Amino acid sequence: MDITALRNLTYGLYVVGTNDNGRPTGCIINTCFQVTSENPIVAISMNKNNYTHDIIVRHGKFSLAILAEESDTSLITTFGFQCGRDRNKYTNYDYEWQNDVPILSGIFSGHIICEVLHIADNETHDVIFARVLNTIPDNGTPMTYAYYHHVIKGKAPQNAPTYIKEENVSPEDPKPNSGKKYICEVCGYIHEGELPDDFKCPVCQAPRSCFKEI
Ligand SMILES: Cc1cc2nc3c(=O)[nH]c(=O)nc-3n(C[C@H](O)[C@H](O)[C@H](O)COP(=O)(O)O)c2cc1C
Repeated sequence: MDITALRNLTYGLYVVGTNDNGRPTGCIINTCFQVTSENPIVAISMNKNNYTHDIIVRHGKFSLAILAEESDTSLITTFGFQCGRDRNKYTNYDYEWQNDVPILSGIFSGHIICEVLHIADNETHDVIFARVLNTIPDNGTPMTYAYYHHVIKGKAPQNAPTYIKEENVSPEDPKPNSGKKYICEVCGYIHEGELPDDFKCPVCQAPRSCFKEI
């Protein structure tokens, strides 16, 4: 099947945050939409392999920080390419607790606090429907998924519902014209050749300091 048309579906980018027995945890998602308008319900699509999925299911509440074009892009590197199972992704960010879920400080387009209503099983992903308990407006320009791809030049990892196989360069598939090789310790991308000082990982945007020679 030709899935080209699917690439023209539009999305935003969000940090979904939840409460891991008192410790904040969360990840980046692009799949979030409003389902009803009165006493609103929203839905998010969560990969079952993501740690955040399990914690949302257990805790029953989550926050959505709507990323803005002006937001700190390191949020995408940290929350979109690392796993909260063995680290606290919130360590380097300011946040506060509201309704038992973490609310990130900084520039966003708003925050939404949600309580899980029901979960629909969709093979690799669960779609989690949730009641909006509260919202916190903010005035950043919402970052669209297209902006993330075309301006930030970011990619989607395997657990994103919109992952496209050809766009990821896997660690097992380095380019053939070998010289020096460096691996991004955040997402596993392999770069061949010298690394300029201002180099950023083309997959997860991690800085040069995250690359190790292999
Ligand atoms: C641009 C982007 C979009 C993503 N969209 C989703 C999504 O909609 N749903 C999802 O489950 N994971 C999505 N991910 C993947 C998770 O953020 C990623 O697997 C993360 O490392 C999971 O962390 P965790 O194991 O701590 O939950 C996305 C990642 C990026 C960078």
